[in-house]
Amino acid sequence: MKQIQAIRGMSDYLPDTCANWQWLESKIRQVVQSYGYREIRTPLIEKTPLFVRSIGKVTDIVEKEIYCFDDRNGENIALRPEGTAGCIRAGIEHGLFYHQIQRLWYMGPFFRYERPQKGRYRQFHQLGVEFLGVHTAHADAEIIIMLAHLWQTLGISEHLCLEINTLGSHEDRTRFRQALIDYLNVHADELDEDSKKRLQKNPLRILDSKNPQMKNVIEYAPQITDYLCTESQQHFQCLQNLLTQANIAYTINPYLVRGLDYYNDTVFEWTTQELGAQSAVCGGGRYNGLVEQLGGQKTPAVGFGLGLERLYLLLEKLNAFPSTAHTDVYLCMLGDTAQCAGLSLAKQIRVACPDLKLVTDCHADSFKKQLKRADKSGAKIALIFGEEEVQNQVITVKDLRDSGSQQRISMDAIFPLLTDIKG
Ligand code: HAM
Repeated sequence: MKQIQAIRGMSDYLPDTCANWQWLESKIRQVVQSYGYREIRTPLIEKTPLFVRSIGKVTDIVEKEIYCFDDRNGENIALRPEGTAGCIRAGIEHGLFYHQIQRLWYMGPFFRYERPQKGRYRQFHQLGVEFLGVHTAHADAEIIIMLAHLWQTLGISEHLCLEINTLGSHEDRTRFRQALIDYLNVHADELDEDSKKRLQKNPLRILDSKNPQMKNVIEYAPQITDYLCTESQQHFQCLQNLLTQANIAYTINPYLVRGLDYYNDTVFEWTTQELGAQSAVCGGGRYNGLVEQLGGQKTPAVGFGLGLERLYLLLEKLNAFPSTAHTDVYLCMLGDTAQCAGLSLAKQIRVACPDLKLVTDCHADSFKKQLKRADKSGAKIALIFGEEEVQNQVITVKDLRDSGSQQRISMDAIFPLLTDIKG
């Protein structure tokens, strides 16, 4: 029979890599929680109009990438392509935002029907952070500083660059959009096919076209900075001052517009040179209109999404993962009596030393075979528990790595010894 394989672009995360994933996720949790952010968990599936209304109808995500289908009741539902929409929907539904400040984070899988390649998958994972209820540039700076802190914790600061831009207020953007359309209409014959399609529907996206043919047109296009109201100018200037104060290097990229429609004022991306084409590790910005747009009270907000596979690839490339053994101690049990008593002894040890990874040999075969498996497990020591040990209430401890030495110790002495091993 033909073997069934995983769906294209959807990866299995095997045990060897899961230890790294757990390490990475725990570092992330530690940093975001140290800034007072609290976790929110929302469904992986939402009603499709939620995404259409928030991300925007004429975005790549909604036009080409969203996984949506009718459920058995005929309702159109979608696998979440991003986390902001669901988070805001949940916050409105449960009254989290009205006259309140919320610092929220989430981590989990997201789905986009993209052409898979290194760093781009159809199921991928994000850390999302959403900071609601504060309109100042200080809030924007806080989440950027938190990201810089995370890079530092992971030891990868010098491999990530920050780009920032402003999209101004909704009104600024409308005026800029028109000026851009007027300019691009004059240069219509220089536009590539993609840009021609985007011209009426989503002209701002033309600005971040990667096609070299578009370089010239983009270079002389109007820039948003010339259309900003005083308030937006001040917001952007304040953010720059705060980043400088915090010693965070950045470049202003006037072509950074992001692929989702809900942003205003600040937008930013962290990119790396280490991953080839999929260089954007993290992106975000301010979205003061979204809560109201989804039926809540007007609430200022800012946030980001961090692509965890890209961060993982970067850490792997830089050899930044610590080596973690999945077995510390291996228990060999010889003979019927020891096999019966051994499983209880193992449990007692696990209760006393909860961080220790203790594996028991359940094969009930020869000492030689068990010791071979103990060695292969990567454990530092083997505990040998046989008939004699049971009778004398002792245990034999064998060093599997350095000396290979062996010693018999009393049952009571085993707990401090194992606590020491975990160190
Ligand atoms: P986004 O820029 O669409 O923003 O996604 C954020 C990050 O997710 C990207 O920078 C990238 O690292 C990762 N990513 C996106 N698509 C894929 C993919 N197909 N495969 C692997 N990684 C991917 C958002 O999703 C917004 N919700 C961010 C946000 C939160 N803005 C405000 N709050």
